Amino acid sequence: SYVVLLGPPGAGKGTQAELISEKLGLAHISSGDIFRENLKNQTELGQKAQVFMNRGELVPDDLTIEMIKDRLQRDDCKAGALLDGFPRTPAQAEALGKMLSTWNGKVECVPYISVPPEELIGRLSGRWTCKAQGHVYHEKFNPPKVAGKCDVDGSELYQREDDQAATVERRIRVYLEQTTPLIDYYRKQGVLAEVDGTLPIDQVTTLLLKAIKKG
Ligand code: AP5
Ligand code: ZN
Repeated sequence: SYVVLLGPPGAGKGTQAELISEKLGLAHISSGDIFRENLKNQTELGQKAQVFMNRGELVPDDLTIEMIKDRLQRDDCKAGALLDGFPRTPAQAEALGKMLSTWNGKVECVPYISVPPEELIGRLSGRWTCKAQGHVYHEKFNPPKVAGKCDVDGSELYQREDDQAATVERRIRVYLEQTTPLIDYYRKQGVLAEVDGTLPIDQVTTLLLKAIKKG
């Protein structure tokens, strides 16, 4: 099945996707991670995306949709996927629906991880990300066992360029303007399940798994 994790920047989409994708047997598809991977490898897509990402703006729909289409056509997504960071605009949501319908799939559940804007700043400014695979930590809320090193693969942790205060504010504004319409869009389709994202990480995981099994 296809599950879309919705929520503002810093809501915990990446954290939770990492914890539940294996349990659900779904490939974790993070649009942000794919863009960052392309950036690291200096691909054409990465170079195009970089300008927008560093400003805290969305990468244009055509580029983003094309990229996700490529990814979802791979074998590991044939039975479903856990989407994190996509769709983020009504045009992306429409494109996803069309894409999935060509192989008789559809979006079955959309957990919406809600966290009020004022909490997001502290989450993002204290976030540390793993260089090798993008695992995320928080200096207060989810510190790594060894300072500066990823628990999973030992790689170095860094702070994302777009986690600077000014860029974070921009990203939250962009989310409110361009992505929040998707809450109603999926509510109308009867697939939205709101989850309180202010709870501790393990409690959010439990609620998400419950919501997805029902959905
Ligand atoms: P992307 O990488 O998708 O960033 P985002 O949506 O802003 O999401 P984040 O990764 O910042 O947050 P998250 O919800 O995953 O939170 P996390 O688990 O890390 O996108 C980056 C950029 O790429 C965009 O700005 C855009 O330019 C481009 N892009 C990507 N997708 C696009 C698209 N579809 N269209 C166009 N452009 C696109 O958690 C945050 C922190 O909080 C961590 O430190 C974590 O440890 C901590 N934390 C998590 N849960 C809890 C909890 N319950 N309690 C306390 N702390 C917690
Ligand atoms: Zn790691």
